[in-house]
Amino acid sequence: MRVVRSSARASAPGKLVLFGEHFVVYNNTAVLAAINRRVNVTVHVNNTDNINITSDLGLIGSFKDSRFNLLSGPQETRAILAPLCECARLVLSERGCNRGLDIDLVSNLPESVGLGSSAACCVAITAAVDALFHKPDRYWISEKAVESERLIHKDSSGADCHISTFGGLMYFVKNEGFKKIYSKKQLSLGLINTGRKHSTGKLVSSVKKFKETNVSLFKVLTLFSEIISQKAFVAISEGDEKTLGNLMNQNHVLLQEIGVSDKKIDELINICLTKGAWGAKLTGAGGGGSIIVSFPPNNYELKVFLDSLGKSELGGQSIPVKVDFSGVLVA
Ligand code: MEV
Repeated sequence: MRVVRSSARASAPGKLVLFGEHFVVYNNTAVLAAINRRVNVTVHVNNTDNINITSDLGLIGSFKDSRFNLLSGPQETRAILAPLCECARLVLSERGCNRGLDIDLVSNLPESVGLGSSAACCVAITAAVDALFHKPDRYWISEKAVESERLIHKDSSGADCHISTFGGLMYFVKNEGFKKIYSKKQLSLGLINTGRKHSTGKLVSSVKKFKETNVSLFKVLTLFSEIISQKAFVAISEGDEKTLGNLMNQNHVLLQEIGVSDKKIDELINICLTKGAWGAKLTGAGGGGSIIVSFPPNNYELKVFLDSLGKSELGGQSIPVKVDFSGVLVA
C-alpha cells in the first residue's frame, strides 16, 4: 500500500479493570472501563530509514534496523521504546511499506500504575501509523495492538488494548471477545494512584507461579472471580453502585489471596471503607499501582480524604476520572 498522507494523529484512552484482572489471563471474564486520560501520538513520514521516537517523559531515541541511537533518557530508554518501534514496524510491514517515521508521544496517563498506558501507546501508534494509508478499522487496530503489547508483557490477555480501542464499559473474555455494557447511570468512581510503579509482566508471572503451586485453590478463586464478574455485569447495567461496591470488596479479597495486593494498598482501601465507600479494590496488576473506589456521590468525608491524599504521609494521589466512551480517535 502507498501512504496517502505524510502525517497522522491518534489518541487512545487508559483503562480501569473493574473486575477480573489476572483471572482474565486464564480466559475468565474481566469487566473494564476506559477513562478520560489519553496517550496522544503524532506520526510524520520522514525521508530516512529511521524510526525516531520522542516521548514527553524525556525519552528520545532513533532506531535503524536493529541499531539504536539514544538521544535523551536513561539506560532503559531502549527497552521502553523498542516495543513501540516494533508496533509501528508491524503496521508498516502489514501495509507492505518501508518508510522512516518520526513518532511523538504525549500522555496525561500515569505510566506503570495499572491504568493501561502501554496498551494505550500500542493502540494509538497502531492507529496513527495505519491512518497514513487509509481510514483504520478498529477491530484491526485492537488485534495488532495486542500483538505489540505482548512484546511488553508476553502473557497479555489483550483486555487493555480492547478497552482502549473501543472505549466505554466492557465485558471481556480473551478467547471469546467482548461485549459492551450499557449502564443506566453514570458510575461515580474514585481513583487513587499509589505512585508505586510495577511491572505487569512480573506480577502476571508471580500469579502464574501461585496458580501452579496452588492448583485447587486457584480453581476455587477463579470460580469466585467468574461469579463476581457476572454479577458485576448485571449491577453495572442496572446502575446498582452499592452492589458494585460490595462486589469490588469481594474481588479485592481474591487479589489478596493471589498475592498482588500489599499492606499499603489494603490500608488505603480500609480507610476508604471506614469513611463510607461502598467498596474498593486494587485495579490492574497490583503490586502498587492504583485503587478504585465506589462511593455515594454525596459522601463529602470521603471526597475530602481523597483530595487530601497528596499532602498526607499515606502517599498516593487522587485522580479524578470519568468513563471515556470514544475509544481510539484518529485525526
Ligand atoms: C493488567 O491491566 C491486567 C492483567 O489482568 C494482565 C492482563 O490482562 O494482560 C493483570
